[in-house]
Amino acid sequence: MAALKLSPAGLQLDVAPGTRLQDVLFAQGVEFPCGGRGRCKGCRVKVLNGSLPVVAEETRLLTPAELAAGWRLACRHSVSADLELELAQWEAAILSDQTAFTFTPRVGLGIAIDLGSTTVAAQLLDLQTGNVLAVQTALNAQARHGGDIMSRVEYAVQGGQGELQRLIREQLGGLAAQLLKSVARSGQGSAGLNRVAIVGNTVMHQLFCGVNVAPMAAHPFEPEQPGRFRFSARDLGWDLPGDAVVEFLPCLGSFVGSDILAGIVATGLHQSRDLVALMDLGTNGEVVVGNHVKILCTSTAAGPAFEGARIKQGMRAATGAISEVKVEDGFISCRVLGGGEARGLCGSGLVDAVAAGLELEWIHPAGRMANRRDMPLSGSVSLHPRDIRELQLAKGAIAAGLKILVSRFGAAVDDLKQLHLAGAFGNYISRASARRIGLLPLPLDRVVPAGNTALLGAKLALFDDASRWDAIAARVRHVALNDDPAFADLYADEMTFPARA
Ligand code: FES
Repeated sequence: MAALKLSPAGLQLDVAPGTRLQDVLFAQGVEFPCGGRGRCKGCRVKVLNGSLPVVAEETRLLTPAELAAGWRLACRHSVSADLELELAQWEAAILSDQTAFTFTPRVGLGIAIDLGSTTVAAQLLDLQTGNVLAVQTALNAQARHGGDIMSRVEYAVQGGQGELQRLIREQLGGLAAQLLKSVARSGQGSAGLNRVAIVGNTVMHQLFCGVNVAPMAAHPFEPEQPGRFRFSARDLGWDLPGDAVVEFLPCLGSFVGSDILAGIVATGLHQSRDLVALMDLGTNGEVVVGNHVKILCTSTAAGPAFEGARIKQGMRAATGAISEVKVEDGFISCRVLGGGEARGLCGSGLVDAVAAGLELEWIHPAGRMANRRDMPLSGSVSLHPRDIRELQLAKGAIAAGLKILVSRFGAAVDDLKQLHLAGAFGNYISRASARRIGLLPLPLDRVVPAGNTALLGAKLALFDDASRWDAIAARVRHVALNDDPAFADLYADEMTFPARA
């Protein structure tokens, strides 16, 4: 075994020699914006101890100074001996493209936080230079009271709202303190903390901001106070030097939160001359369609299939998950995260597995398995009939939601110039498989993995006048799909898989 040490998290892992760094780091929550294709440099790591020989993609994407300083692309390497790495995954994804990340410098430091129901990602930025100085990620401390949004709402309604608020406020305050401490140690960032921008889904917004979440438990699932909230760090009880302004950016309606607003700003959808879409697939599937004139959004009850939940042998994209399934010479071949024995199937593997089953005609377009009880994948892990059903429910809702939004522009899905796929799942899903099952019915070159647009948007907010974000949010109209008379029929139609690719 080789020892892999990760800074600044301080983690030490025993890794079998030959294991791909991407598999190990992904299991630790690191994202690979271009899907590990060596195109984006979003997976940059710095070798602190040990060595990783420079490969061709690195000479193309990294400067000689960066290479000399030990920066490498994690997705291009395997672990062969003991290694110590510093993770700085999101820094380059923004700084590598100054045209896409233009900002007006401000004084001091800022913290951008993407508050997800499962994970929290926070970055400390120098607001003069736009440089990311430190990164912290963690599992959402509320998760002990329920893995998904609705179980949190249920816990809150049953009297636990104060506890959920306390947990998340304390956690974010703690992350902010750790970020500041890490730069104080390294001597960077002598300026004080000025601003904190937080984005998250509607339930996270209401819980953090102390708004009664009971309305989110029943139809029409509208938050009581969706707007932007502004606090001082002191009001929140955060023990930080100075008294930074902490803002939670506004929600867009129902289950569409400020993480999606951040995605709209990060992808520039609100300024686009062409009709474009943004999708974030997870427990809920959020879809946005728009241009510089009009923006519509919706959230579909996509079901948790994309996160591996309700799948018989489903699991999150962690070590042991089948993340890729291919057909090679008529046989199924699988990739398992971490390289060991398969323990389950995650969302990207599920989409691939069904696409492979359709290809081999082991699965009918209606979703039935042809002459078999299940479809063996790897080791003891198989695709089961009810998994296909779950995927049909999820993909049907999303595809129907997209069609309805697009139709309100008098357009068809094929008229979309681009579809931005946000979030980790969007980066890992095979676009070809998603097209094969009818989830993304567009030519592959028009579907763009967009990375962590929520965090990128939160960073942009640090440099912006917050009232501008209120104005963008006010331009977005939320569409309740269930109120659209065409939705039920479209949903039923879209549950069928395309007969041929
Ligand atoms: S270059 Fe490694 S994930 Fe993009």
